[in-house]
Amino acid sequence: MKKMGLVIVVAMGGLLLFKTFSPSGEVCPFLAPASPRAPQPAPVVRALEDGLALTPPMGWYPWNIFGEEPQNEKLIGEIVDALVSSGLKAAGYSYVGPDEGICFYRRDDGRLATNVERYPSGLRSLGDAIHQKGLKYALYTDAGTRTCSTAMPGTKDHEFEDMRQFAEWRADYIKIDWCNTEGQDIVKTYTTLHDAQLAAGRPVVHSLCSWGEGYPWRWAGAVGHLWRTTADICAPGQADWTRAMRVALANEKLAAFAGPGHWNDPDMMISGMPGISDSQSRSFFSLWCLMAAPLIAGNDLRSMSRATVETLTNLEAIAVNQDPLGVQGKIVWTDGMVSLWAEKPLFDGGQAVLVFNQGRHEANKQIAWPEIGIDAAASCYVRNLWTHETIGPLTGGVTVNVAPDDVAFLRISPKPDFSLPPVLVADSYLVSLRSTGSSPQKLSGAITITNKGSAELPLWKVGEGLPAWLSVSVSKNGKSQTLNNTISTAGLKKGLYHAAVRADNTEPVSGRPMSALYYDVDLEVSQDVSGQSE
Ligand code: GLA
Repeated sequence: MKKMGLVIVVAMGGLLLFKTFSPSGEVCPFLAPASPRAPQPAPVVRALEDGLALTPPMGWYPWNIFGEEPQNEKLIGEIVDALVSSGLKAAGYSYVGPDEGICFYRRDDGRLATNVERYPSGLRSLGDAIHQKGLKYALYTDAGTRTCSTAMPGTKDHEFEDMRQFAEWRADYIKIDWCNTEGQDIVKTYTTLHDAQLAAGRPVVHSLCSWGEGYPWRWAGAVGHLWRTTADICAPGQADWTRAMRVALANEKLAAFAGPGHWNDPDMMISGMPGISDSQSRSFFSLWCLMAAPLIAGNDLRSMSRATVETLTNLEAIAVNQDPLGVQGKIVWTDGMVSLWAEKPLFDGGQAVLVFNQGRHEANKQIAWPEIGIDAAASCYVRNLWTHETIGPLTGGVTVNVAPDDVAFLRISPKPDFSLPPVLVADSYLVSLRSTGSSPQKLSGAITITNKGSAELPLWKVGEGLPAWLSVSVSKNGKSQTLNNTISTAGLKKGLYHAAVRADNTEPVSGRPMSALYYDVDLEVSQDVSGQSE
């Protein structure tokens, strides 16, 4: 797209600069203007039911860097430790688990069972260990007869029993691939899997993975929370920048279909993978943030450079991705190898904007306020999300210099405060208690949730329908809230008891519902006290 010459006024701290620019040059082959929008998305049913993924899921999946090998319990354990020690968990990453990691097989009686050679403690114990660390458990399967490598069984004709087994393993997120599905109707199959998840009774984030086949953006919001829009972003271990940019461009065209609880998924991230430079990692991350894409890291978290950690944990960039309005930004113009990505309003009345330079030379670009829907005379502040500096107030527009393969990632707002929406970090998602006495006991266990965003959250509201033996109260301490779980064993028989607790909250600035918080409470009553009251 060739743009007409344009005069803009850039004001910095009272200094007015009049600049003229007439962008020219070749149209970048990967940055064609977006095609006309397809019809509006189907109604979003799934997220209304369970309140999950109201902002894009964040986590880590093994496929990009490892493929099938060497996924096993030891590796996942090391990654979980690295998620915590690197600061990724504190930046909001939570879903983690094996992808096609050959972690289960189908027994002769039809049930799935752990592959104990690779996961000797079992898939339920792996889930418990992940929950104890304040992270969420992700598992993988396939909608057909076998997974893509054929190394694992698919769910075809076993949908209900398999989703029950995933619930018993306590999965919180299930990615369901579309290999070996010859003759299957895609909408019917993923709808059956959704029904099977509901029947299993454990709310899970349902991640559809048909690589865009069947146009999932048109219908999958009714049965899932996110859907892959493209082919794999890379072969395992082989990050490919050109291919990744093609994926980004294909995903960009689908912006109209994304929103809270129903996301376009352009695949796991390649930031920090071998062969990807620091500026490419930063640009990639910024694009995924602006597109409200799931932030599923795909690099080896055990051996990250400082630059990679700084990129993946940039809370100001993450805040754009996790913005509660959930709008996917898109390309506004391309000028040769440089593109302007915008149309991403934010919860505080501002917006996010990105200038991406895919050329070989530094680009000096002006963003005129009218190009991003702001009156030319308006005064705005500009926050650079990578240098963490604010300038302004500016009228007319702002000028940016962008190095090759790099981005200027900005928030533009009439106010200078640039508050962050809630980003939640839990100390644990599992309360596990055991009573030993021969008379009724009271036991308690706490879960603390810390908000890394700016505003204080109202109190979490705990859902109704808790079992009689459990009560939950909520207390607040600054940016943290504690859910105090009190258990009374009076009247209980010897045995194992379980409750899944749901809590809900509201984003205090936009007033939108936030993703529901779920955690598990396990109780072992080791002696019968069924005849006794407190
Ligand atoms: C497909 C998916 C990948 C990965 C592999 C596992 O290719 O798109 O993300 O899950 O299967 O085999």
